Amino acid sequence: MQQERVMVITGGAKNIGKGIALEFLNNGWKVGIIDLDEQGLKEFPISEDLLTYWGDVSDECAVKDFYGKVKSRFGRLDVLINNAAIGGFKDFLQLSVAEWSRVIQVNLTGYFLMARFGVPLILENPGTGAIINISSTRALMSEPGNEAYSASKAGILGLTHALANSLGPKIRVNAVCPGWILHEDEIISEKEHSQHLVGRAGTIKDIAQLVFFLADEEKSGFITGQHFVIDGGMTKKMIYL
Ligand SMILES: NC(=O)c1ccc[n+]([C@@H]2O[C@H](COP(=O)([O-])OP(=O)(O)OC[C@H]3O[C@@H](n4cnc5c(N)ncnc54)[C@H](O)[C@@H]3O)[C@@H](O)[C@H]2O)c1
Repeated sequence: MQQERVMVITGGAKNIGKGIALEFLNNGWKVGIIDLDEQGLKEFPISEDLLTYWGDVSDECAVKDFYGKVKSRFGRLDVLINNAAIGGFKDFLQLSVAEWSRVIQVNLTGYFLMARFGVPLILENPGTGAIINISSTRALMSEPGNEAYSASKAGILGLTHALANSLGPKIRVNAVCPGWILHEDEIISEKEHSQHLVGRAGTIKDIAQLVFFLADEEKSGFITGQHFVIDGGMTKKMIYL
């Protein structure tokens, strides 16, 4: 019989993170979620396969406490998915150091903390494990006023290949760079859809399926240190106006 598998995800209370959490739950995994959105966490049905934890990924104590609860509840860890992020646009000359620092703390230090204190738990297992870091196409391309977010997302790509070197062959580490992914109940115009080479914006399911593939040792066991753009072709479309 297949050993029960355990994954943890940050920012799993809504949208992409929630979709990824449900993808794993529906495929028989045990799932731990850490998120700041207490209300969103409460909306999950109570299940012995799901642990929800209200906490901030940029807080070292909260991250350690979360992993303590994951260990006592599930006894092991196989996969970490770093997903929680903040961002937004602000004129560069209005951006304060505090605003810059908060984005870096959550989007980059949070990813580091989750790996730093989760990897020892993965290493306790006899088998292999995986880390999947959600980055963004904004790691690779920009619009004005997105310095902190873009820098954090590009930093995640560096963290990803560094960790792949440090943690192989036991743990594979990859990143996913989504383009425009529609939130739950978000509706956009036909023009916004059709600008994509595939004729539509992305769905939460598009991301969840790629992440699930990257967590699967049998299907993606030869892939590590990489990042995967999933954007309906937008970063391959040349736009001069
Ligand atoms: N939606 C998109 O179009 C898109 C595109 C590219 C990349 N992404 C990336 O995908 C990921 C998910 O995006 P989303 O659109 O679902 O975001 P979202 O804002 O809808 O959800 C993010 C979740 O993270 C949680 N969170 C934020 N800060 C936290 C913290 N300090 N500690 C714990 N939890 C925290 C929030 O409470 C929320 O539940 C992010 O990494 C984002 O950068 C999204």
